[in-house]
Amino acid sequence: MRVVILENAQRVGRWAAEYIGQLVRQKPTVVLGLATGGTPVLCYQRLIAMHREEGLSFRRVRTFNLDEYVGLPADDSNSYRSFMRQQLFDHIDIPASSTHVPDGLATDVTEHCRHYEQQIQDVGGIDLQLLGIGSDGHIAFNEPGSSLASRTRLKALAARTLQDNARFFGSLDRVPRLAITMGVGTILEARQCLLLATGENKASAVRDAIEGPLTSQITASALQLHPQATLVLDEAAAARLEQADYYREAEALQAGC
Ligand code: GLP
Repeated sequence: MRVVILENAQRVGRWAAEYIGQLVRQKPTVVLGLATGGTPVLCYQRLIAMHREEGLSFRRVRTFNLDEYVGLPADDSNSYRSFMRQQLFDHIDIPASSTHVPDGLATDVTEHCRHYEQQIQDVGGIDLQLLGIGSDGHIAFNEPGSSLASRTRLKALAARTLQDNARFFGSLDRVPRLAITMGVGTILEARQCLLLATGENKASAVRDAIEGPLTSQITASALQLHPQATLVLDEAAAARLEQADYYREAEALQAGC
């Protein structure tokens, strides 16, 4: 795993956007896996600025989001589809038909999940999967105990996740209890994974994911199995890493190689 430690959340967002921007320039038809939550917002803002100021085009890019709440229509202000429109899609030149987010109102959830996986296969797989991390160590909505081989499916949210996400809904009892989420196995099939983490409330999860054992209790630890996983952290999220100095040194030594 490549671990990049930067000064603050602003730098993390900028680093991720430059990385993604470079990929889009190299391969205009790139397939991006996208994430929601507060963490990637700064990255999305920078991508929007790159589109406006540097002509970065997303016209041929295809995207697949990690997850969606069950029971929320796409146009609900709290749906992840709305989040992506507000934070990114409505501000760049990507056709709506090239963006994919699971349907929180799907009547046949099993079939919908199978179809979502099929759509990913049909475009040749995900080139880069952007990820955040839950304070319980989850990626997407793969809560503790999720199989490390899991595929897109229905998942019940853990108490800590409901609590963490209540801030978006105004109160805990408004947070949907179920979500459709890509599985850990689905995520590991992306050619590259890029996980962003900022803030001290992520420091334990980040340490467990990078330096703890591979375990379904911390689904982000599955990235230890991925040959091309990069974790970009701010100082606060990196604060509990035992090997932080080594990661910094390794980055400095490998710069430009
Ligand atoms: C939700 C999302 C995850 C995200 C996590 C952390 O659980 N399903 O994909 O990584 O929130 O969100 P935040 O970046 O707001 O801390």
